[in-house]
Amino acid sequence: MPRSPVRPPPEALGEEVRRVWNANAAFWDERMGDGNSFHRQLLLPALERLLSLSRGERVLEIACGNGQLARWMAGRGVRVVATDLSERLIELARQRTDLRGTAIDYRLLDASDPGALARLGPGAFDAVVCNMALMDMPSIEPLAEAIPSLLPAGGRFVFSVTHPCFNTGDSRKVASATDEGGRFEETLGVEVRHYLSPRTVRGLAMLGQPEPQPYFERPLSLLLGTFLRAGLVLDALEEPAYPSPEPASAPWHSWSRFAEIPPALVVRLRPRPRRGGPAPFRAPPGRPRSPRRRHAGGGGGAGVLGPTRS
Ligand SMILES: C[S@@+](CC[C@H](N)C(=O)[O-])C[C@H]1O[C@@H](n2cnc3c(N)ncnc32)[C@H](O)[C@@H]1O
Repeated sequence: MPRSPVRPPPEALGEEVRRVWNANAAFWDERMGDGNSFHRQLLLPALERLLSLSRGERVLEIACGNGQLARWMAGRGVRVVATDLSERLIELARQRTDLRGTAIDYRLLDASDPGALARLGPGAFDAVVCNMALMDMPSIEPLAEAIPSLLPAGGRFVFSVTHPCFNTGDSRKVASATDEGGRFEETLGVEVRHYLSPRTVRGLAMLGQPEPQPYFERPLSLLLGTFLRAGLVLDALEEPAYPSPEPASAPWHSWSRFAEIPPALVVRLRPRPRRGGPAPFRAPPGRPRSPRRRHAGGGGGAGVLGPTRS
C-alpha cells in the first residue's frame, strides 16, 4: 500500500479527515454497500459474538460510514443511533436506509468532540460500537473518556481496527519461495519494521478510492491504554483471519491468502465496576470463542482485498 507521511498542524487533522471522507463517500458507499467480503467474513462474526445484541437494546454507533453495520443491527431489532463525521456519508446512509424502510437515527457527530458526546446522554445506550474507524481518528481520548458515562454498569464498548501489528502503513506483505531439499515451498508473511511510535500516514482503505486517507497508527499499548485509563476494562478480544488460505485464484497479496495473520483486531471493553457496585459482567456459557469456527467455508472476495487495509 502506498504510504507518505502526513504533516498538517494537529488542529487541521480533524478537518482533513472530514474532507477526505466526504470526497471518498460515493465511492465508499458503492463499494461497501451492505458490507464487503472483509466485513462480512472477517469482522461481522466477531462483532456479532462480542456485541451479543438483544432485541430492543439501544446501541450507539460511532463512525458508521454508509450505515451498513447500523442496518444489520437494526435488522436484529436493535434501536440504533448511528453517527459519523462526514455529512456526505450520513446522507448516503440515510438514502440506503430509507429505501429499506428501516428506522435508524442518523446524526452528524465528531467523535473527538467531548461536548457532542456528552449531549448523547448519561447511560443512554446498552452498547457502543465503532467498526474500523479508530485508526481514522487523530484523537481517541475524548471518545474513551465519554464511553463510561454513555453506558450503564455492565454495558459494552466494542471496536474493530486494522490490526496494529500486522496491517499498518509500514507492514509489508512478502512472498518467498524455497527449494527445501527438492520440495518447492512458497511462504507468505508480513514484515514489520515500525510499530512502537505512533505515526500519521496516508493510505488506501480500498483500492481505487479517489483520495488516500490519513491513518493514525497507535501501538496496542497506546490504543488499549487510552480506554483502560478512561475507566474501561478489557473483556474480550479476537483476531479474525481467513479460515484457510484461498486458492491461487486470489492475488497473492490478498488477506484471504494469509490464514495465519489477522488483518483486524476486535475488542470488547466494559466500564470498570465500581466498588460496592454491581457484580462484573460474566459472559454467558457456551458462546463460541474461536473466530475460526464460524468462518468455515468463507472465501475472500475480489477487488477490495489486495494491498489495501480492508
Ligand atoms: C473506514 S470507515 C468505516 C465506516 C463504517 N464504520 C464501516 O465499517 O463501514 C471510517 C469512518 O470513520 C469516520 N470518521 C473518521 N473520523 C471520525 C470522527 N472524528 N468522528 C466520527 N466519525 C469519524 C469516517 O467519516 C468514516 O466513515
